Amino acid sequence: MTVAAPTKHRIPDDVANLLVQPRAYADGEIHEAYKWLRQNEPFGVAEVEGVDPFWVATRHADILEISRQNALFHNGDRSPTLTSQEVDRKVREMMGGSPHLLRTLIHMDEPDHMKYRLLTQAWFLPQNLRAMEDRIRVIAKAAVERMAATGGQCDFVNQVALHFPLHVVMSILGVPEEDEPRMLKLTQELFGAADPELGRNRDADFMNKEAAEERPFDMGVITDFFMYFRALSERKRANPTDDLATLIANARIDGQPISDLEAMSYYIIVATAGHDTTSSSTAGALWALAENPGELAKVKKDPSLIPGLVEESIRWTTPVKTFMRTVTEDTEFADRSLKKNDWLMLCYASGNRDEAVFDNPYQFQVDRKPNKQLAFGYGAHVCLGQHLARMEMRILWEELLPRLSELELAGEPAMSEAVFVNGPKRLPIRFKMD
Ligand code: HEM
Repeated sequence: MTVAAPTKHRIPDDVANLLVQPRAYADGEIHEAYKWLRQNEPFGVAEVEGVDPFWVATRHADILEISRQNALFHNGDRSPTLTSQEVDRKVREMMGGSPHLLRTLIHMDEPDHMKYRLLTQAWFLPQNLRAMEDRIRVIAKAAVERMAATGGQCDFVNQVALHFPLHVVMSILGVPEEDEPRMLKLTQELFGAADPELGRNRDADFMNKEAAEERPFDMGVITDFFMYFRALSERKRANPTDDLATLIANARIDGQPISDLEAMSYYIIVATAGHDTTSSSTAGALWALAENPGELAKVKKDPSLIPGLVEESIRWTTPVKTFMRTVTEDTEFADRSLKKNDWLMLCYASGNRDEAVFDNPYQFQVDRKPNKQLAFGYGAHVCLGQHLARMEMRILWEELLPRLSELELAGEPAMSEAVFVNGPKRLPIRFKMD
């Protein structure tokens, strides 16, 4: 497949290659590529060996506009995440022609998407989340105690940040606490598949052709998720409780029970999207605060800045780096001619550094106002868990900041390698707590 007018708006190879390179998202080089693209080719075509050509949206305004036009830019016609040709071929072979291994909300378009979203949407609305505030505060206090118990030095990612949102989302879902380490490991293996430390298949870099041919994706991780949630579903049908898993296990659409694939996909998206992203924003914020003591002092002195700190940490880290869309009919967009079935990449982390929208975008400012960060996406697919994520982070900072008197890095932090979802995987800190 080719894309219309590729030569005119073709992105230079060295920049295009960074877009598909998991390492570039870990070492920050991707931000140099984004900056170049915003200035020189804000809506160009990447042509990289082994991947179908794709348009690349790097400007804030274009990302919002594409996300808003859900009928023109579909999620499900092709893979909604960047995929190599080899992986795409194998998935289609396995799934009877479908480009998807799962059928989550992310993979659906209207009318199905809204029907499935409405099944759980009420759980995630601010008025319903308020009832969970006390429960979440208890979990946040425990996380802060856990940090204090390390005695002033810890790896904030692995000892604190990962566990807090994991415990919140698993208790909403109805997964027993003893199974949380398993959920954490499976999520890290899914999102960190290309990371040499996190992935199960250590050489699963999706641009690695030989590895892709041999083992195109980690089916083992998905199978493990399926087996776990199938058993949970059976338990929730037999013994319904007041949680999301019970709701999903018994869900009906148009009077019919939802299929096994759709139910399993629903569990998987809530179980994975619901914690890794939030812990990445939390850890990314603590990292930025350690490097910017002036910002830490500001928010400690004036706790009314905490919601601003949360918003800035989401902009700063933008844990979901990219999603893909597919054009549904020939159209003009941003002075380009797009053809039906063209594939395009939304670069959220670029939109969140767009100089046209943010003053000093490369500075972490807890009192940034306005802050039009778009890390939760926009339009019909806008993040279902955005209010929960904000609330969890606000409560954690409310509990942690008054007790934190000193903070500094105590070693080299590291980011995970991934094109889709990434964030800090290690953050050694030294601190004092009251
Ligand atoms: C969708 C980011 C937390 C569940 C999304 C999308 C993004 C995103 C970019 C796609 C939006 C679009 O296509 O326009 C984030 C970030 C988070 C976060 C940055 C934390 C900082 C959560 C949490 C949950 C969650 C806590 C649930 C417990 C979902 C679901 C979708 C989604 C179910 C699919 C919605 C749909 O397609 O209709 N998220 N998310 N997310 N997120 Fe989040």
